[in-house]
Amino acid sequence: MRIDSSLGLCFIGFGNVGQGLARILVRKERELAERWGFAFRTVAVVTRTRGAALSSDGLSLADLLARVERGEPVGNERISPVEAALLPETDIVLDVTPTNLINGEPGLSLTRAALGSGRSVVSSNKGPVSLALAELKELARARGAHYRFEGAVMSGTPSLNLALESLAGCDVREVQGIVNGTTNYILTRMEEGFEYADALREAQEKGYAEADPAGDVDGWDAAVKAQILAAAVLGFPLPLDAVERTGIGAISRADVEAAAKRGKRIKLLAKAARTTGGVAASVAPAEIPLSHPLASVGGATNALTFTTDTLRDVTIIGPGAGREETGQALLSDMLAIAAAERHGARFSVKAG
Ligand code: HSE
Repeated sequence: MRIDSSLGLCFIGFGNVGQGLARILVRKERELAERWGFAFRTVAVVTRTRGAALSSDGLSLADLLARVERGEPVGNERISPVEAALLPETDIVLDVTPTNLINGEPGLSLTRAALGSGRSVVSSNKGPVSLALAELKELARARGAHYRFEGAVMSGTPSLNLALESLAGCDVREVQGIVNGTTNYILTRMEEGFEYADALREAQEKGYAEADPAGDVDGWDAAVKAQILAAAVLGFPLPLDAVERTGIGAISRADVEAAAKRGKRIKLLAKAARTTGGVAASVAPAEIPLSHPLASVGGATNALTFTTDTLRDVTIIGPGAGREETGQALLSDMLAIAAAERHGARFSVKAG
């Protein structure tokens, strides 16, 4: 990877998260260079429905955002995600394609291709992490590349990197909390008197929900995050279907209001914990008292408690979804890669 000049960024996807990241990069370009030593050129933006744009000298993200705002394509180039990832000018591939939990595509193929060629990948896409974390980590290690995916859990609020880097040396035994912004937003709005369908529509408008919101409501998104925490933090890979899963589909506004009358609040809780034989992970709604620390975590805010040996419980609370909120995760991962390359050290996310 070149570190003497600007890093070549290749966006695969330019939806909520890609645009959120682009806005941050436009706003902070100078600060990133001056304060963080991070200079970049956007060499490709490839989308599924809005065309593609390429430039080895660097595209203007402000122009691309304006085009999308006007409903125009980002460009008229024809190039596949894998071809764009492998452009000679690409240093870091940003996989901001939607999560596909069935086969991981298109993210999995482009991630394999990029890492296999020694290019680093920064991702908010949960599919490839869920399906192939061990393989992708090994590919990155073998090719001297970085694979980072902080945005897969709790958007830009540090969770994976907190556990793997800031809590380095701690034995994390259990992780528990609220990890889906959409369902927490819906439950909060229903307690405020909104109908389920209206609350879901708001969550979609705010860019919290998955492309198919059933992934949120049925608990799949929280389940895959529990699976990722089990693999990446507890060091114990599980298949997704080993995560016990109940969503919020059966919870009505009446249930939420009845719980409130009893001094309780319904939250969708995710958990991954060591057991004698390995790790157990689950997602289920739970009625918790208002005095419980998680009861006050409302809207799209998320919270995770890491139970450790040396520090006991460490809890982080912060945004769990959103365009710029997830863009921030990608930015912090890019800065970590740039810093690691500058210092000649390599620290890709690792399990266990
Ligand atoms: N749909 C997800 C959520 C996005 O609502 O939490 C962030 O992973």
